[in-house]
Amino acid sequence: QAFFKPIQDTAPPSPTKRHTKISVIGVGNVGMAIAQTILTQDLADELALIDAKPDKLRGEMLDLQHAAAFLPRTKIVASVDYSVTAGSDLCIVTAGARQNPGESRLNLLQRNVALFSKIIPPLAKYSPDSILLIVSNPVDVLTYVSWKLSGFPPNRIIGSGTNLDSSRFRFLIADHLDVNAQDVQAYIVGEHGDSSVALWSSISVGGVPVLSFLKSQQIAYEKETLENIHKAVTESAYEVISLKGYTSWAIGYSVANLARSLLRDQRKIHPVSVLAKGFYGIDSGDVFLSLPTQLGRGGVLGVTNIHLTDEEVQRLRESAKTIFEVQSQLGL
Ligand code: NAI
Ligand code: 2OP
Repeated sequence: QAFFKPIQDTAPPSPTKRHTKISVIGVGNVGMAIAQTILTQDLADELALIDAKPDKLRGEMLDLQHAAAFLPRTKIVASVDYSVTAGSDLCIVTAGARQNPGESRLNLLQRNVALFSKIIPPLAKYSPDSILLIVSNPVDVLTYVSWKLSGFPPNRIIGSGTNLDSSRFRFLIADHLDVNAQDVQAYIVGEHGDSSVALWSSISVGGVPVLSFLKSQQIAYEKETLENIHKAVTESAYEVISLKGYTSWAIGYSVANLARSLLRDQRKIHPVSVLAKGFYGIDSGDVFLSLPTQLGRGGVLGVTNIHLTDEEVQRLRESAKTIFEVQSQLGL
């Protein structure tokens, strides 16, 4: 007996909109921050959660389901079995070890590569047409590993990369200039982590290029101030981890923002980790690192050809070399 009775002589309605499914692998601090942001922003019709710990997984699923009365309607399912992810449009991987206070992201590599060999093949099997969005660290190398393990074309393999670092950068510049961070355009590219590259030439506020504006007004700007802002960006995660043990809220919003651009075909430009060989003179083999990338329903639509100074190009190549050297030890 259906709860609602159809109006006389009408056929049951056919679905009017496409069913969107997102899977989140790993329901730790980061996976749950992403899951809850996706729910509040109404980005999926179905959310599937996977983790290796069944009790924690069921507990998190129930806790989210109990918020149904306050959220847009989303079916939430969870299992340790990957069949629950079948037919996903987007799979977001956050499972794995995180840094201890003072530990670098690259130090997590061996532990997380071993986990990825259990995670990526079943995801690819159950959702062969999905986009893989990698968040676990070291994110650039694990994005490369996921490309290799999935066999997916590179336009459907993305690392969350420096989308988060760029948000930290925009916040710090906005704070310095006392403006709204959403009016600040500024990119950090390269490795998500210690060798990231700040593109000073890219900074504009409300469409006004900041460095050339200061120069034309003959306002002295301190190179040291700019470098301190970049230093603060690279130290951000270390500081938060030493204070609260992990980072979660900013990466939650950052990844939900990427999910929106991808699934809603926003064609927005995000600094995310993509197969970078051949761009900006990067010639150190198949390496994933962040470049300003246009994202849409097909995944990576293209890499933006923005102007970089010689120094920025040089730093970007060094960042690529750092990642490539780490990656070469994997023998994949
Ligand atoms: P966490 O320890 O809170 O959660 C990790 C989860 O992964 C746990 O629930 C654990 O049970 C699960 N897990 C472990 N092995 C698994 C497997 N084989 N299959 C499925 N699930 C498995 O860690 P947290 O804080 O959530 O961090 C997760 C990852 O995200 C870390 O690698 C961290 O470095 C990274 N991260 C990346 C950021 C970025 O900007 N790319 C930002 C913040 C964190
Ligand atoms: C972050 O930047 C730890 O990669 C993580 O917050």
